[in-house]
Amino acid sequence: MLKTAIRVMKGSKLLLLVGLISLLDTGGAAAQTTSGADAFTQNRRLGRGVNILGYDPIWWSRERGRFKAEYFQKLKAAGFNSVRINLHPFRFMNRTNDWKLQPAWLETLDWAVNEAQKQGLAVILDLHEFNAIGDNPTGESKEKLFAFWWQISAHFQQAPTTVCFEVLNEPFGKLTPELWNEYFAELLVLIRKTNPTRTVIVGPGHWNAISHLEQLKLPEDDRNLIVTVHFYEPFAFTHQGTSWTDRKDKLGFDWKGTPEEIAAINQAFDKAVAWSKSTKRPIFVGEFGAYDRGPMNSRVRWTAAVARAAESRGWSWAYWQFDSDFILYDVKKEAWVEPILNALIPKSP
Ligand code: BGC
Repeated sequence: MLKTAIRVMKGSKLLLLVGLISLLDTGGAAAQTTSGADAFTQNRRLGRGVNILGYDPIWWSRERGRFKAEYFQKLKAAGFNSVRINLHPFRFMNRTNDWKLQPAWLETLDWAVNEAQKQGLAVILDLHEFNAIGDNPTGESKEKLFAFWWQISAHFQQAPTTVCFEVLNEPFGKLTPELWNEYFAELLVLIRKTNPTRTVIVGPGHWNAISHLEQLKLPEDDRNLIVTVHFYEPFAFTHQGTSWTDRKDKLGFDWKGTPEEIAAINQAFDKAVAWSKSTKRPIFVGEFGAYDRGPMNSRVRWTAAVARAAESRGWSWAYWQFDSDFILYDVKKEAWVEPILNALIPKSP
């Protein structure tokens, strides 16, 4: 397995070296079975979360950042338990530098992880380069994918157990469910070299769809895995008016919370429950949300219904997303989008 991990990084001297050193360090031991925190306990710690920083200019320069340190405190105070940090590192990695992550990029990441931890928020490091990898899973993207996890695994080796690694957001396209199973198995071996007890998050192919859980193959002996699914159904409602889908000019969809509509959520979630029971894996709804151009009262109903449906099954969740679009917090006004916040974290009576 390790040989395979090294093979995919051919041409990357630095990382080949890292690979060989780690092989020597462990005496060439095969992937270790993890003990560490129980995945179900870890999943409960993730609790209620939110996706952050994915489309923030902060990654280019700290001064241009929209996200401020105080937002971690605001999130905690509002009742959130975790943040899922959406990472797009590929644009800052290049072959001439052996795919090395830039120090400035890593400093920004360290800042975010430390600030979140200071507030007692659990952290998910989510590699969000699904487009690059889904469009072309071999060649350069694959090298970057493996190089990224070599470096992040080493960098966060000593991080607290409340930092989790999510190997790849929404595998899709040419990264077929079968190929994704192969990649994930190799990546997990690589991560376990330095992080034998780290909780790792992984989701099925086809954009982390519940309907593709059956195709996800996980190593039986690694029990420190949380399985993630994304939920944006009905798509015509959640993605109305989005420029990156075929729903650009299709507006005016309501979600009234009729028995049929509620049943559709329950049906989808119960499929995941059945899979979770048979595989004994905990479930994390890593993304769900309804785009800003939909009617607010419908968005509120849908958001609350999905969050409660997940919670009633003992799952954790992360709302998509804090800033940028589907917004939970209005950075310009320095104010929560109250209806969405209340839908996510209901005020106690
Ligand atoms: C993507 C976003 C998109 C969202 C909802 C995320 O995984 O990164 O660009 O807005 O899904 O479609």
